[in-house]
Amino acid sequence: MQINHLHLSSFRNYEQLSVDFGPRLNIFVGDNAQGKTNLLEAIQILASTHSFRSAKDTDLIQLYQNGRALEFAQFERAAVISAEVKREDAGTILMEVGISSHGKKNLQVNGTRRSRLSDYLGHLNAVGFNSFDMDIIAGEPQDRRRFLNLEISQLNPIYNHYLLRYRRALEQRNHLLHEMAEFGSGDYGLEAWTEQIVEYGGHLFERRDLFVKEIAPLAQAVHSELTDGEEKLEIRYLCSALQNEAAQPMDRSKMDWGQAFRSDLERVAADELRRGMTLSGPQRDDLSIMINGSEARVFASQGQQRTAALSIKMAEFEVAKRRLGEDPVLLLDDVLSDLDPQRQRILLEKTNGFWQTFLSTTTLKGFPEALLEQATIYEVKGGVVTRNAK
Ligand SMILES: Nc1ncnc2c1ncn2[C@@H]1O[C@H](COP(=O)(O)OP(=O)(O)OP(=O)(O)O)[C@@H](O)[C@H]1O
Ligand SMILES: [Mg+2]
Repeated sequence: MQINHLHLSSFRNYEQLSVDFGPRLNIFVGDNAQGKTNLLEAIQILASTHSFRSAKDTDLIQLYQNGRALEFAQFERAAVISAEVKREDAGTILMEVGISSHGKKNLQVNGTRRSRLSDYLGHLNAVGFNSFDMDIIAGEPQDRRRFLNLEISQLNPIYNHYLLRYRRALEQRNHLLHEMAEFGSGDYGLEAWTEQIVEYGGHLFERRDLFVKEIAPLAQAVHSELTDGEEKLEIRYLCSALQNEAAQPMDRSKMDWGQAFRSDLERVAADELRRGMTLSGPQRDDLSIMINGSEARVFASQGQQRTAALSIKMAEFEVAKRRLGEDPVLLLDDVLSDLDPQRQRILLEKTNGFWQTFLSTTTLKGFPEALLEQATIYEVKGGVVTRNAK
């Protein structure tokens, strides 16, 4: 699939933008703070309805211009992102995300409002790399769980349903355990909550295991390419219900995840009553990410961490492509920094594929000539995007 045309209105530092894109590699060049990331963010919001960097949707509306706050009347004019998307399987689709001054989103496909998220999602698929993705490698276990949740729900909407059910049951179970530990209250229905977390948690474990099994070898292959075979990336799923190594079956495909979770809960039952909280489950999972046998979070350099995060994203792109039967669009925000010239060159050659890529950079220095000739290049300056004449 590809985005033919993008329109922005009062979005971040863009007052009005109307721009056509090339079918393959699109490069946005500009100094710091000119609007490169904002542009990629707009595409990401159009695909997922979420921003990767603002929790508050009102932050997305243009608040000031040339350093001056906009009048309230203008601020009331909420932001609009719209695009014409061409898919191989469904022709041309018009997509629009409007953001009201109260931060409410209005989603439209082909001019019709979609009040249910599930009716909107899935028309435009984007896989993006941005600076926050470094947290997959360098961050805390919760950053890696967030990554798993986001990626698996995108591929598998039912996962999100299980996740919500699980969280609700977990909260109730924790509440009850807390009451029991604190006030010695009786066991009012603990078993029923245990049944629920075992059911939903079992599904979460299983899907996480399958997902990691699928992306790990793909990420390892990309990583080996980017490092010219010098480094080996290994990603393993650390399932909290399988902490007891001896209880792990050799073949996880035959595993009964609910049963494994239940026996792990039995293992920690006495501790749970003492501490008043659930001590096993998907909320305690993590990923082990190793480069040449050492834990990447602790030992890897900046450039190594970036290479690993990028490899995971490229693996995700591959998985999404398999599921969709066509290429999603690829968003690469500022990926080149921290990479040495050799890694930059290999990565750039990889982006020059048959799919549509949006890449931001502060300089074209080091880009191979042949690549620049095929790419569509734009200059980004103060919220204005100009396509370079060839
Ligand atoms: N709601 C908003 N209204 C107006 N301007 C905004 C808004 N949100 C962000 N900006 C401005 O957008 C600019 C940042 O744009 P962006 O993050 O896209 O820069 P960039 O070109 O990616 O720079 P860098 O090379 O440093 O990553 C900042 O100057 C910021 O003040
Ligand atoms: Mg940026």
